[in-house]
Amino acid sequence: MAALSSGGQIALAFVGGFLAALLVMAVVAFSFLRSSDAYGLGHWKLNAKMPLSTMWMNLGYWTNAKGEPIHDFEEACSTLLRNILDRAGILNQPGGRPQQPPRSLAVLDLGFGCGDQTFELVRLTRPERGWDAFRYVGLTLSRVQIQAARRCVAREQLLAAADNGPDADSFQLFCADAARPGTWDERTRAAVEALADERYAERWLLALDCLYHFKPSRRPVFEYAARRLRANSMAFDLVLNENASFGDKLRMRAVGVMMGCPVDTFLTEKEYLDQLVECGYDRESSTISDISEHVFSGVSGFIDSQERALSQYSVTLGGYKLAGRLFEWFGRSKVVKAVIVVARTREDADLSSS
Ligand SMILES: C[S@@+](CC[C@H](N)C(=O)[O-])C[C@H]1O[C@@H](n2cnc3c(N)ncnc32)[C@H](O)[C@@H]1O
Repeated sequence: MAALSSGGQIALAFVGGFLAALLVMAVVAFSFLRSSDAYGLGHWKLNAKMPLSTMWMNLGYWTNAKGEPIHDFEEACSTLLRNILDRAGILNQPGGRPQQPPRSLAVLDLGFGCGDQTFELVRLTRPERGWDAFRYVGLTLSRVQIQAARRCVAREQLLAAADNGPDADSFQLFCADAARPGTWDERTRAAVEALADERYAERWLLALDCLYHFKPSRRPVFEYAARRLRANSMAFDLVLNENASFGDKLRMRAVGVMMGCPVDTFLTEKEYLDQLVECGYDRESSTISDISEHVFSGVSGFIDSQERALSQYSVTLGGYKLAGRLFEWFGRSKVVKAVIVVARTREDADLSSS
């Protein structure tokens, strides 16, 4: 009898809990339907076209080939990639290089983001541009970004399949700390080391707007690329202006720490070049080109205009607004320079001078 009554109590508590949950759900639904937002502008979420066509995230190069300003984020980000490839001598024109043999390319791409640069590279190294072999390994720290990149690659591959696109084995994406080659698991290491295959006459490390995050420093991966893969390096990076005031340099170090970078991540041009040489790159044929005038004012102006556009839908850019102010300060104070780095291994430099 006692057991029956405790069973009844449990059932009663269960029904009570269920009814309470129903009540809460009803209150939430009621307040949502009565809220002004249901017929405000919140339904932009329903109108946004998914999936987003790109998910680039770099500082961009905000001037086009005709010298006109760029106003579009996707265009600025992909133009930055093209500028890096161009300075590295990889950007063949459509139609290839008349009278020249086809070229073969292996790329180790660090911090590849959500896959946009992966496919941009695939497009730019197609046979009609004079390339007959392409192999690509991408490394990123972010699990959510690798998932987004895999979706992007699968989508693009479907589109490219009809158009004789590259085979799926020619590019591989891994979640790994690119700054610390010693931590790579066996699969990642094997895929990266396969890039050293001599079938790929041109081997490159690519780092598009990520090296200043690398802990403990850029050194281990530069050394690995130069000595183990015999790969040249091309990158977009930030270098400290040796003429900046002591106060600005100090502020810049604090900004770096706030961004989660090592405290000494921002090197002057000379320190950067010395580090490349110590890692196995050739001083004479390596270049660091200042492109600040095409970067900082463009990206900070774009962030302002995007904030204004989004505010019409009551959406705010949040933390990106602070980033915009910082980029504006970088441009105005010239405390750091936005640069394209192209470094050739000593062996490659020897070959090109012989
Ligand atoms: C500014 S985003 C650039 C993304 C991409 N390159 C683009 O242009 O859209 C920096 C990227 O570097 C990646 N990253 C930072 N540190 C890394 C590390 N140690 N290893 C691998 N990826 C890293 C981040 O996950 C992020 O995707």
